[in-house]
Amino acid sequence: MVESNSEIKTDVPENSPEIEPIVELNGVYKIFKQGHLEVIALKNINLTVMPGELIVVMGPSGSGKTTLLNVISGMDKPNAGSVKIKNLDVTRLKDEGIQKLLQYEIGIIFQFFNLIPSLTAAGNIELPMNIIKVPKVERKERVKTLLAQVGLENRARHRPFTLSGGEKQRVAIAQAFANNPSLILADEPTGNIDSVSAEKIMNIFHETMLNNPEKAVIIVTHDPAFRKIADRTLVLRDGEITREIGKLSQSEQNHFTGDITNGDSKFTAINDRHQIAKEVIEGPKEYPKFSEIKKCPSCGSTRILKNFDKNHSSLSIRDQNIIGIVAIACLDCHQVQFETVTLFNIKKDLNLL
Ligand SMILES: Nc1ncnc2c1ncn2[C@@H]1O[C@H](COP(=O)(O)OP(=O)(O)OP(=O)(O)O)[C@@H](O)[C@H]1O
Ligand SMILES: [Mg+2]
Repeated sequence: MVESNSEIKTDVPENSPEIEPIVELNGVYKIFKQGHLEVIALKNINLTVMPGELIVVMGPSGSGKTTLLNVISGMDKPNAGSVKIKNLDVTRLKDEGIQKLLQYEIGIIFQFFNLIPSLTAAGNIELPMNIIKVPKVERKERVKTLLAQVGLENRARHRPFTLSGGEKQRVAIAQAFANNPSLILADEPTGNIDSVSAEKIMNIFHETMLNNPEKAVIIVTHDPAFRKIADRTLVLRDGEITREIGKLSQSEQNHFTGDITNGDSKFTAINDRHQIAKEVIEGPKEYPKFSEIKKCPSCGSTRILKNFDKNHSSLSIRDQNIIGIVAIACLDCHQVQFETVTLFNIKKDLNLL
């Protein structure tokens, strides 16, 4: 978003010696103690984020997503392990060092906007630059650029209470980018806004990353649509990274079919189907019976809906077995998965062959 140009990001070669990771977590544990109770909020987290990467973090409530961001930003100290931002060991920094880190290197976007009510949109965006004493002319110029980049040129003089939720969040994004940080951390940036504004915000993140390949973004969200723009999606459960999903292919992105509404929960059908097809063809796999699927394959939650997406279910025959593909929607991590299930054996169960 900062140097706005139309260049598409070039892929950063992995393991290149001269490119340093922006974030490096090794064996990170965070334990909260409350009386006799201990909550292990993060358990042996290992994570490396390179420049140009957009990481999405999903997982049920209480799985440690916010704690992960707090540990990365230095706001929470881990009980064990190391946290490095651009090779700087954050766990060794004193308060003043953390403050500098937050002023220069890390921009944070919260779910509830965190804007100062008495300042205008422009004033809020300018604030981080005031704090580090950016000269006035440069500040004003930059506010203008940032407002344009989040599409709010004509809201510069509005105070937060006169802005919609989506607009407030766009101001918060511009504010997080004000001091040109290397790392942006966003905690549920679309948690409180309607789906049209959410999509706009998702696109702002995406464009920002395309235009700033030297930066990295970590977004915590319950919105599966963010998988479309993610280079990697991490699934947290009980403080552990239980799954890491790579970038969706172009065809998967194209097939990302929007929302399927089921009661209060919103899901997006994700085309993991050719993976499933591959498993069906190649095996070997023990196919669970429909009734045996009790957990979300992604996060392990037992709060799942089976076969809710009938349009994407199908039947095929393999080794005289009728195999069905069942869509499973998880009420916790909001992912849709496709599981293969042996429904019955034609020979044994039906005596047909
Ligand atoms: N300051 C704290 N003191 C004690 N326990 C805490 C503290 N902060 C977090 N926890 C606990 O750590 C666990 C992880 O919390 P965290 O806020 O990281 O979850 P989360 O994945 O962000 O959840 P949500 O999706 O609801 O925001 C929870 O069990 C929570 O109760
Ligand atoms: Mg949280």
